[in-house]
Amino acid sequence: MELSQKSLEEVHEIISECKRCTLSEGRTKTVPGSGDAKAAILFIGEGPGKNEDLQGLPFVGAAGQFLTELLGTIGLSREDVFIANVVKCRPPGNRDPLPEEVNACFPYLERQVQLIDPLLIVTLGRHSMNRFIPGKQISAAHGKAFRREIEGLGKRVFFPIYHPAAALYRPQLKDEIIADFVKVPALLNKIEAEQDKEQTTVEIEQKAMF
Ligand code: URA
Ligand code: SF4
Repeated sequence: MELSQKSLEEVHEIISECKRCTLSEGRTKTVPGSGDAKAAILFIGEGPGKNEDLQGLPFVGAAGQFLTELLGTIGLSREDVFIANVVKCRPPGNRDPLPEEVNACFPYLERQVQLIDPLLIVTLGRHSMNRFIPGKQISAAHGKAFRREIEGLGKRVFFPIYHPAAALYRPQLKDEIIADFVKVPALLNKIEAEQDKEQTTVEIEQKAMF
């Protein structure tokens, strides 16, 4: 598999036939991700649920409806962003993906990040967060931006938030996810402004940007 030369469409085609892990056995459709291939913001969830598996599209169930509402609060629609998942096939009974499944699927996500090349990566939930900024508790890290240099991906800004499915029915988390979302436009502006400056500075922040 020579993913490094593939376009987004080609990657999604390869995913549709992938048997790299046993999640391929129970899936109806693969869910590679969808949205603007040149989006400034990439959202990364955990894995497809029942509705996603049936439709082949990410975040189309109740959690997806909430995510769409959240996007609306900052004046964006689903078509303005790209939405992907850590694993592209539904784990049976919506269980957490196993580390070996996440590892098997990661090259696809890596290539998606390279191709979409977003300014900001919003991780949804702790599994997605842990893949990029390990060793953090989501209760402490949510709503903060982290700049990380990731092998193969270069320097990237990550903004972890709670998973919309977890927040949907828990009022306190719901308030927090809404409050975190509201910070996204200002964060994007900050990253854009810093990109110009970064031609000369190569400092990597290991702590939260704010
Ligand atoms: N939850 C996820 O993490 N991803 C989806 O695509 C849908 C629900
Ligand atoms: Fe392939 Fe990823 Fe699906 Fe596993 S979850 S079969 S690695 S596309």
